[in-house]
Amino acid sequence: MNHFLDIHKTDPTALRGMIDAARAIKTARNGAPKATPDAEQPLAGHMVALIFEKPSTRTRVSFDVGVRQMGGETMVLSGGDLQLGHGETIADTARVLSRFVDLIMIRTFDESVLTEMAEFASVPVINGLTDRTHPCQIMADVLTFEEHRGPIAGKKVVWSGDGNNVCASWLHAAAQFGFDFTFTGPVQLDPEMEFVGLARNKGATITIERDPVKAVAGADLVITDTWVSMHDAQSARERRHNMLRPYQVNRDLMAAAKPDALFMHCLPAHREEEVTSEVMDGPNSVIWDEAENRLHAQKAIMRWCLGA
Ligand code: CP
Ligand code: NVA
Repeated sequence: MNHFLDIHKTDPTALRGMIDAARAIKTARNGAPKATPDAEQPLAGHMVALIFEKPSTRTRVSFDVGVRQMGGETMVLSGGDLQLGHGETIADTARVLSRFVDLIMIRTFDESVLTEMAEFASVPVINGLTDRTHPCQIMADVLTFEEHRGPIAGKKVVWSGDGNNVCASWLHAAAQFGFDFTFTGPVQLDPEMEFVGLARNKGATITIERDPVKAVAGADLVITDTWVSMHDAQSARERRHNMLRPYQVNRDLMAAAKPDALFMHCLPAHREEEVTSEVMDGPNSVIWDEAENRLHAQKAIMRWCLGA
C-alpha cells in the first residue's frame, strides 16, 4: 500500500519520481484555466475523502482542485462532521471509509490518528499535516526550489524560527534529497532530536546554530513559519514571540545569506512577525510559486499512491 505518511518513510527514488512527475504535470497544464481537465485523467472514477480536523486554505483547495483536474471526485469532511469526533474509533472509521473512497487525505492533531488510519484503511492515506510533520508541503517546496535554482542536492537550506512540524519534514527531506540543513532558533524550540538524529544517521549534514546571522551565511534558501502553530496553546503566544523575535526573517538577515538566496514560507504568514513584508514581497521570495506548487506536487503524490 502506497501511503504517503512522511518523507523519511518514503523511498528516495519514489520521492524523486514524484518531484519530476509534478514538474511534468505542471508543464503539461501550461497555465490552463483552473477547471480545465488535465489531458490525462488518472483519477477518473476515483473518489477521494479530504478530512480536516484543523483549518486549511492551501491544502484543502489544492487537493480538491487537483483531484478534479485529474478526473476524480472529492468529499471534504471536517472532523466535527464525522462520528470520529463523537466516539467511533479511528480503526472503524478507516475500515468504513475504505468501502466508499479510493484515497484518504487527513489533516489532524496527534500523529497517532494518521498512523492508525493508515494501519486500518485498505486504501492509501496521505498526511495533510499533523502536529509533528507536514510532508506534502516540503514536496511542493523542493519542487519550487528546483524550478528556480536547479537540483537541491548539495545546497544549504536554513530554517529560522520554531522547530515545528514543517521544520521536521524539512529535516526528513535533507536526508532523502541530499541537501545540508541548518536550524537556527531558541533552544526551547529546537526540532525534535529524534528527527535530527534520524537525518544524521542517514548521512545528512544537520547544523544547529543559535546565531541567525551566522546560520544563514552561504544559504541558498532561507525559510520560516508562524511563531504559533495551530497545535500551540494561545496562552504561549507572548512567550513564543519573545523567544522568536531575534529569528525574524528581515532585510538584514537575508543580506547575510547568498545574494541570490531564495525565501520560502509555507503560509499562512504573519507579516512583520516571523517575516517582514519587505522580504515576503521582495525579489528573492518565491512564496506564491510555492503555494501554487502544492497543487502540482500533490497531484504527483496522489498518482503515486494510486499507481495511476
Ligand atoms: N501551508 C499550508 O498547509 O496551508 P493551509 O494550512 O492553508 O493548508
Ligand atoms: N506550523 C503551522 C503550519 C501551517 C501550514 C501549523 O501547524 O499551524
